Amino acid sequence: MPQKRRFLHSLLRILAVSLIMSQVTAQRPGFNYDEAKVPSYELPDPLLSSSGTRITSSQQWEAARRLEIRKLFEDHVYGRRPASPAKPLYIVTSESHNALDGQAMRKQITIRFDENAFPQAVHILLYVPNKANGPAPIFLGYNFNGNHTIHTDPGIHLSTSWMRRNQNGNINHQATDAARGKSAKRWPVKRILERGYALATAYYGDVEPDHAQGWKDGIRSHYKTDESGEPLKLDEWGAISAWAWGLSRIVDYLETEDAIDAKRIALIGHSRLGKTALWAGATDERFAITISNNSGCGGAALSRRAFGETVKQINTSFPHWFNRAFKSYNDNEVDLPVDQHMLIALMAPRPVYVASAEEDLWADPNGEFLSAKGAEPVFELYGLKGIGVENQPALNSPVGDQIGYHYRSGKHDVTAYDWERYLDFADRHF
Ligand code: GCU
Repeated sequence: MPQKRRFLHSLLRILAVSLIMSQVTAQRPGFNYDEAKVPSYELPDPLLSSSGTRITSSQQWEAARRLEIRKLFEDHVYGRRPASPAKPLYIVTSESHNALDGQAMRKQITIRFDENAFPQAVHILLYVPNKANGPAPIFLGYNFNGNHTIHTDPGIHLSTSWMRRNQNGNINHQATDAARGKSAKRWPVKRILERGYALATAYYGDVEPDHAQGWKDGIRSHYKTDESGEPLKLDEWGAISAWAWGLSRIVDYLETEDAIDAKRIALIGHSRLGKTALWAGATDERFAITISNNSGCGGAALSRRAFGETVKQINTSFPHWFNRAFKSYNDNEVDLPVDQHMLIALMAPRPVYVASAEEDLWADPNGEFLSAKGAEPVFELYGLKGIGVENQPALNSPVGDQIGYHYRSGKHDVTAYDWERYLDFADRHF
């Protein structure tokens, strides 16, 4: 018997090891996925200003260091962005008070940024729970493949925008009815509404199509000056900054919507849209909560940690995401005047949540944790508790107070588990 048990034990061990190995080898080869091989690095101190002043109060942080860090991210990573349009148009294209079997009000709104001939338009899909008494708190997040993919609700307009993927119901980069509901697993609409939240989403490609030449059909071809009226050249801002600007424009609209409590907006984004959510949350304080789901390099993960995707790789695969200056940090992360913990610190004192997935080594789960952890001293200036633990927690054991964090089992994705944590986090803070 003991022999049989020993045999079973070693069999199980072999199975476990080969499972881990298959996860590691499923990642892109040629990059580091071994914690023991991460070279040592030193992070810039969020509380030490470039003039050498030590920041010891929230007043000092807000008066000087916060702006300084924001500007460093504008200049070296994402780029500046234009002012908000003077006269946006909000065109309601459909409204039903009996959507989803009576659970919700469904409204679709097209934003046109200016009254002039500029063709760019962003199409918002909004659900508000019918059981809400009073303006509802809301989750806002871009989708990857068009509003019609988040639910099979036949009332959702089929997007006519260019689609990045030529699969899952898209033909010649155009959506067809076959694409309806294809991303529904990532959007538990019913559950969100049941928990008392409204949901707004829009296709990020409405703001700028996600490819190197996408700027030609996006807002970056239209806006040529920044918020202060200074010239803004194309390569001085990247698509992430353009998409983040688009999220602020959706908030402009939500502020006009009676059914919504615009003081309780939780912004959520996955992967590249998680990077976008963090930059939007950092630049627009109207986002009351910001949630980064598996955002990885250029998002929550520390750039200086050589683990998974690198700055050079992201700039090579996606040359349009960041500004020109960011490319000078290829193989040279050490010279960056910021690292991503400082991006998370820009949310303070507003709550922020970072989530990682076990099999998502490309996004460097521990690097995402360490960056959330590195933002803690700034929250402490406000007397707020950040993440509260020293090391990355065990799988599926959420931690944190004003900075939430979890490390779930499974792949790079947005799952029901993730959503339950975000709903709990929003309940706690709203
Ligand atoms: C690629 C990219 C990541 C990004 C991801 C996504 O994997 O390298 O940085 O987060 O795409 O957005 O799906």
